[in-house]
Amino acid sequence: MSVVVEAQTRVTRLFDDLAGFWTEIYSAPGVAGGIYRRRLERALAWVESLDLSPGAPVLVVGAGAGFEAIALASRGYAVTAVEPAAAMIAIARTRAEAAGCNGIRWVRGDVHALGFEPASFDLVVALGVIPWLHSPNLAMTEMGRVMRPGGWWLGSVDNSHRLDAFFDPARNPVIAPRARAVRNALLRKRPSFEPKAAQHSSNALRRLLDCAGADRIAEVTFGFGPFTFAGRPLIGDKAGKAIDAALSRLAERGTLIARSSGAQRLALARKREVGVRDI
Ligand SMILES: C[S@@+](CC[C@H](N)C(=O)[O-])C[C@H]1O[C@@H](n2cnc3c(N)ncnc32)[C@H](O)[C@@H]1O
Repeated sequence: MSVVVEAQTRVTRLFDDLAGFWTEIYSAPGVAGGIYRRRLERALAWVESLDLSPGAPVLVVGAGAGFEAIALASRGYAVTAVEPAAAMIAIARTRAEAAGCNGIRWVRGDVHALGFEPASFDLVVALGVIPWLHSPNLAMTEMGRVMRPGGWWLGSVDNSHRLDAFFDPARNPVIAPRARAVRNALLRKRPSFEPKAAQHSSNALRRLLDCAGADRIAEVTFGFGPFTFAGRPLIGDKAGKAIDAALSRLAERGTLIARSSGAQRLALARKREVGVRDI
């Protein structure tokens, strides 16, 4: 098996195994649950601001348990949802049926190789998927290929400058590159090694968007915590939520440090019209 096929197999297996967790996280009472709910709310608010036509074709990649696909289908868009993990698709389908969204096209597939015609979608949504990809540049090129010129990309990455990582040596960015190198070496030696989510800076995200031929229109970071030390919780849930809320307020006001150090980085970008770059 090639290295990339093996890497993807491991990621898919992880999400098959954790399908229940990635469904329940949205209703979890803790800090993490609140961050995922906020990500979805913000993403949907941005979509609403785009004024897409009713029935516009929308692609959701890494659809997971179907939260964003169902929300977008309920708003009247023609949603195609791509997801490699069979257990996640099964949950997403059941949830969609329960919500009365029967028109979603579910595709068991991989964002690195999308089987759609070029320029088929007005909007591509990629929430929480880029951190898990073995070849994010390739995936972004592929997403760019299926977006129509002037169409939109909306997605998230895990922020490499996140504040919570500074408090935990295991996640501190000074140590992280070495940790990544060790992990990559282990990955080659120990096939059972668990995949971990990659993190991206604002510049790294801009380079990814460039692969899709898209220009960033808006970007925010948000979500502070859960704060840990050596992987263990540093503070209780109640205090954690209060800190998250206070820092989020500062971030929204554009306060220095807070505005760029949230755990999640959410971006909206627009695909260049043909030839725009050459003018
Ligand atoms: C953290 S979950 C996010 C799910 C959903 N987008 C959400 O925000 O709730 C990441 C999802 O990406 C999927 N994924 C992993 N590798 C993928 C790939 N190569 N192509 C498409 N989706 C992938 C996983 O199976 C998983 O369902």
